[in-house]
Formats: sequence, C-alpha cells, structure tokens
Amino acid sequence: MNPTLSLMSAHRTIRRFADVPLDEGDVERAVAAAQHASTSSNIQAYSLLRVRDEAKREELVELTGGQPQVAQAGGFFVVCGDQRRHALVAGRAGRPYEPNLETFLLAVVDASLFAQNLVLAFESFGYGICFIGGLRNRLPEADRLLALPEHVLPLYGLCVGTGAEEPRRRPRLPLEAVLFDERYPSDDELLRQLDRYDAVMADYYAERGKPGYDWSGGIARKFARRNREHLRGLYESKGARLE
Ligand SMILES: Cc1cc2nc3c(=O)[nH]c(=O)nc-3n(C[C@H](O)[C@H](O)[C@H](O)COP(=O)(O)O)c2cc1C
Repeated sequence: MNPTLSLMSAHRTIRRFADVPLDEGDVERAVAAAQHASTSSNIQAYSLLRVRDEAKREELVELTGGQPQVAQAGGFFVVCGDQRRHALVAGRAGRPYEPNLETFLLAVVDASLFAQNLVLAFESFGYGICFIGGLRNRLPEADRLLALPEHVLPLYGLCVGTGAEEPRRRPRLPLEAVLFDERYPSDDELLRQLDRYDAVMADYYAERGKPGYDWSGGIARKFARRNREHLRGLYESKGARLE
C-alpha cells in the first residue's frame, strides 16, 4: 500500500480525546490543503467555523445529544455549506440569486469533499477525528448559538484532537457490495453480500459487548422512522430552497 492508501485505510473514529490543544499551524496547513478538494465549477460552497468558547462547546455537548467529545477534543469545528458569498456577489453584480435543491446539493457535496480532505490532513498529522452529525439534532438552537448568518448552512460538527483511545477499525461492506462492474446486482445478490457482512459485523459487535447486533438490523431500525424533520424549515429559514 502507498502512504495515502495506508492513511485512508487506517481511519477509525475517535471519541475520547486527551486534553491537548491543536497546533495552530497544523490547523492552517490542514485547511489550506483541504481547500484543494475538487469543487463544482470552483464555487467553493463551504466554510468552517471553529468554536473555541468553552461555554458554547458545553452547550453544544447538550445540543448534539450529550456527546462529551464536542467539549473534550483539542478542537471543535462546524462544517457549513456556504452560499453567502454567492448571494453577496450576485447582489453586488445586480443579479438575482436563485437557490434551489440543486444549489443546496452543490453546497452539501462541496462541503463534504472539503471535510473529508480535511479529516485526512488531520489524520496525517496523527490527530483523531469524530464527525458530529448530532449537530442536526437540535439544529435551530445550534444555529442560533453559532450566530450563523443567512445562506450559511450548518451541516455537521467535527472534533479533532489527540486521541485517548485505540478503537478497532470498523469493518466495511465487502468490495463486491460496493463496486459493480457494468450492471447493478439483483436484490438476491445484494442480500447475499449483506448476509456475509452481517456475519462480520455480528463478530465486531459481540467483541464490543453488543451480542446479537448486526448491520442490517441496525439499518432497518434506523430508517424505520423519519428523523430530524425540522431541517427543511431551518435551512429554508436561512435562505436555502429545497425544491
Ligand atoms: C456526517 C457524519 C456524522 C457523524 N456523526 C457522528 C456523531 O454525531 N457522533 C459520533 O460519535 N459519530 C459520528 N459519526 C461517525 C460514524 O458513526 C462513523 O464514521 C461510522 O460509524 C464508521 O466508523 P469509523 O469512522 O470508526 O470507521 C459521523 C460520521 C459522519 C460521516
């Protein structure tokens, strides 16, 4: 494996962090490198808000569903889809700014390509990371707390810091369940692949003290009900259009 593949394959989420601050130079180097992620038509529809204030971070622990790593990690960031620069330059040029579902997706995709590059950069320095989708649990409150202006859409948080645990890597789907050659497999084939993965994941969970769990069961439970139904209202209140 080359060093890039080794780094990518070594990823595991870290949820316990040592009380060690981030090196400021590391942050700048990581962000500058991550900015070279591909971006649709160079629109660069993202920004990254660092939250340093301890009281705010404690409040975010609560708002994200009681995730202590949000306060503990050396650094906590919010990844935002950012359409504000676009709206501003459109206004300055005397043109309308017309957001829709496509511009929302552009921002989410751009921000996520940037964020994953950022994670790899931090991991290459030896930091551990944890994305925090829990930021969307109570997003209107988090958005108010962060005082994000119109057209800046908070998507998820990111903890970065010196890890204080060495978790096992989480197994992924087998390659043949992800990489298809020419034709998408039948449902029977898909389900057979997922059965094999379930067996691997059942071992993984049993080792972690959760016997009887597997991947399919977790997925079926997760998507049995709609979650975070406030998101459309919040994003539309910030100028996004989801149609
Ligand atoms: C967008 C996104 C949001 C996530 N949100 C959370 C979160 O709120 N809390 C958490 O502990 N892990 C969170 N994770 C981490 C995932 O649970 C983790 O990546 C996944 O289970 C695979 O495990 P691994 O990263 O250790 O390989 C998130 C991951 C992503 C990509």
